[in-house]
Amino acid sequence: MSARFPTFVGLVLGLAAVRGPILPLDNGLARTPPMGWNSWNHFGCDVSAQLIRETADAMAATGMRDAGYQYVVIDDCWQVARDRSGRIVADSARFPGGIKPLADYVHSKGLKFGIYTDAGRQTCQGRPGTYGFEELDARTYAEWGVDYVKEDWCHAEGLDAPTQYAKFRDALAKAGRPIVFSICEWGSNRPWEWGPRTGNLWRTTGDIQDRWASMIAIVDYSTQYALAARPGAWNDPDMLEVGNGGMTDDEYRAHFSLWAVMAAPLMAGNDLRAMPPATRDILLNKEVIAVDQDSLGAQGMLVQEPAPDLQVWMKPLGDGSRAVVLLNRSALQTAIPATWRGIGIGGTARVRDLWTHTDLGTFTRRFSATVPAHGVVMVRITPVT
Ligand code: GLA
Repeated sequence: MSARFPTFVGLVLGLAAVRGPILPLDNGLARTPPMGWNSWNHFGCDVSAQLIRETADAMAATGMRDAGYQYVVIDDCWQVARDRSGRIVADSARFPGGIKPLADYVHSKGLKFGIYTDAGRQTCQGRPGTYGFEELDARTYAEWGVDYVKEDWCHAEGLDAPTQYAKFRDALAKAGRPIVFSICEWGSNRPWEWGPRTGNLWRTTGDIQDRWASMIAIVDYSTQYALAARPGAWNDPDMLEVGNGGMTDDEYRAHFSLWAVMAAPLMAGNDLRAMPPATRDILLNKEVIAVDQDSLGAQGMLVQEPAPDLQVWMKPLGDGSRAVVLLNRSALQTAIPATWRGIGIGGTARVRDLWTHTDLGTFTRRFSATVPAHGVVMVRITPVT
């Protein structure tokens, strides 16, 4: 194994070192990575009350809600102005009646409601930002029944990210409603260093695109800050593109498996009202979701690279087992081995395939599987001796 991969012992020591000195934000929320849906990846600015209501209905009807998806989040473009008192105003054509009744509707479906703002003067789409209005906005959101706020970083020239995000964190605390705080400054100011004491999740990169290369590029950055993740505070490699049409189903299975192994927030970004069965099977894979939501809250890492483009990713789980993703980045189907040494176990272990939902038997020292091009095999490996 090459020296650039951490050994398991190194991983645990690193975890202790990184987790020790930083006091994470203690708002009691996001003890596991947040799960839900966000409008941006599929709908961009084309958001409306009707879309949000239909999405909430679909979350319940498709089984997404019961699988753990909770937050229905409106991204950019819901807001148009501020009134004379400075209060933020929703687009009255798209959100007749305002935001509160919509939050009530989402809650009536047994779901939680989220909204988007920007730490700067304007949002990325030129709508009013929260700069100078932090306390009023936080209070307004709390009154509306908002459960999750994503705060972006456009039009923030000259501002200091840790300061501005801390200001909004404090405004949310003062508003008195439990609200998940999602930091979105694209990894520009090393948010994995101050994010844990400021928010519940922080974006680590620029925006994902619905392409294999974009998704993989985000994954390639992830190991360097993996040790910052813990219950209540998560690296956010951006929202899911599963089902948006730019990748094959094998590629989407890889995307979803890698997000789970990275303990990433699972925010679906597709049209839930019209999901083909293959998309549904990916987003609703309970065994993969369980890896993401594991109580240990460790973020997995790249641990082995048996050959160029063939990788082994490993996430330690609370019961002592390992979630392992064999990732084939090449254009040819091929076998990928994972050694017990590389994933930090010994002896004999049971192996279960989390996509075919079958027990593959017990193995000693190593496990190997044939992996499709641009695809994964994802297994759970449980030591038995
Ligand atoms: C930025 C964010 C995206 C999305 C858009 C909305 O690009 O990173 O996730 O919120 O703004 O304008």
